[in-house]
Amino acid sequence: MSRSAHPAGPRHADVLPEGHYSAPPADLNALDPKVWAQTVTRDAQGVVTVGGIDVKTLAERFGTPAYFIDEADFRTRARAWRTAFGPDADVFYAGKAFLSRAVVRWLYEEGLNLDVCSGGELSTALAGGMPADRIAFHGNNKSVEEITKAVEAGVGRIVLDSFQEIVRVAHIASSMGKRQRVQIRVTVGVEAHTHEFIATAHEDQKFGIPLADGQAAEAVRRALQLDGLELIGIHSHIGSQIFDMSGFEVAAHRVVGLLRDIRDEHGVELPEIDLGGGLGIAYTSDDDPREPHEIAKALTEIVSRECEGARLRTPRISVEPGRAIVGPTAFTLYEVGTIKPLQGLRTYVSVDGGMSDNIRTALYDAEYSVCLASRTSDAEPMLVRIVGKHCESGDIVVRDAFLPADLAPGDLIAVPATGAYCRSMASNYNHALRPPVVAVSDSDARVIVRRETEDDLLRLDVG
Ligand code: LLP
Repeated sequence: MSRSAHPAGPRHADVLPEGHYSAPPADLNALDPKVWAQTVTRDAQGVVTVGGIDVKTLAERFGTPAYFIDEADFRTRARAWRTAFGPDADVFYAGKAFLSRAVVRWLYEEGLNLDVCSGGELSTALAGGMPADRIAFHGNNKSVEEITKAVEAGVGRIVLDSFQEIVRVAHIASSMGKRQRVQIRVTVGVEAHTHEFIATAHEDQKFGIPLADGQAAEAVRRALQLDGLELIGIHSHIGSQIFDMSGFEVAAHRVVGLLRDIRDEHGVELPEIDLGGGLGIAYTSDDDPREPHEIAKALTEIVSRECEGARLRTPRISVEPGRAIVGPTAFTLYEVGTIKPLQGLRTYVSVDGGMSDNIRTALYDAEYSVCLASRTSDAEPMLVRIVGKHCESGDIVVRDAFLPADLAPGDLIAVPATGAYCRSMASNYNHALRPPVVAVSDSDARVIVRRETEDDLLRLDVG
């Protein structure tokens, strides 16, 4: 979003402070479909509704803060990815974005596979009924226990991330008399245009085995020699919240180059290539994400072209979208507690959650939108910063936004596009109780992850 100051001053300032905002939207009550889940709208009274239920009713039944996930939207997006890639490719939903047993069931029913990256995610995937052969197991430092559990369960693939792991997985599989299907994750040396902390394919970071200096080729040599491993392909994940396809283009070019070298050296054509996840979503009206069918078309064309150039059979492609499926499908509902106008600066609006339910603003300087959800208002726009209730001045949910100037304690406000990496990165800082996730569809709302209680916190406390 642009950092320009808006010419029409807000209620509390003659000169606007530096910020991330552009102009206030023409209509503060409007809900931009780009950032809101599919069934979100306002009812005749002006109250925001999702899946046919208004947020005042939802707040009464489930409390605030709470995440509300639009199940129909989730299923539609999952299906769109599945359909876009077709039967000759696999879509692995990245469970780290948000995972629960209910979500696993939806994914299973919509024909998706699942990427997990810890023993906890693996247990949830299995408990939710995902067949093990549709699970990919990731991570840069999987423990022996985690690997053992994954091999025992019969996961479809383990993505190897280091030389030590090649030996560990081979040893564990052999000792069980098994041959584990694996991919090798390589670092292709791409600088993805995203926040440093979520870019993963440049050389100077912890993931994958570097391609450029020949280490990836050496990893392939070793993996091919070990009886416990069946090397099925190469994996590359370049980062997250990416809009520009050129990074994937370079990644595909380099991965296919490796497949060609493997064919030339070993006489084997690896049958699969995984291009990871990372496709961006709209957090504000300024973001323009691509549709799954455009992404599928672009990626398959790139891979086919590269393979043709290298005279290779086109491998089966897999992708691992997390954010692009779940991100837009949920919003967080908060109640406004206190309002502090700071003369010449902005108005601080404190809500009943904060960095414990959305750490992304503090961690990545992420931008979010916000709306007054429990009513509409014709009041003029007021520049606000939505902050939480934690003992930290960086406890910011929405850095800069406009809300109606008649905002009052007790109003409900909603922050869209919080389906990904919010509940999954939630914490108990200040002994906050992590909010519930409530699935809403067809005028029916049910808790899929319940709110934590003080008993939950005390249960861990020993002595
Ligand atoms: N595959 C692999 C191997 C990954 O590491 C990730 C994300 C994904 C797929 C899914 O990426 P997505 O499609 O969701 O962008 N906490 C950060 C994002 C970290 C992503 C880590 N890996 C955030 O809140 O932006």
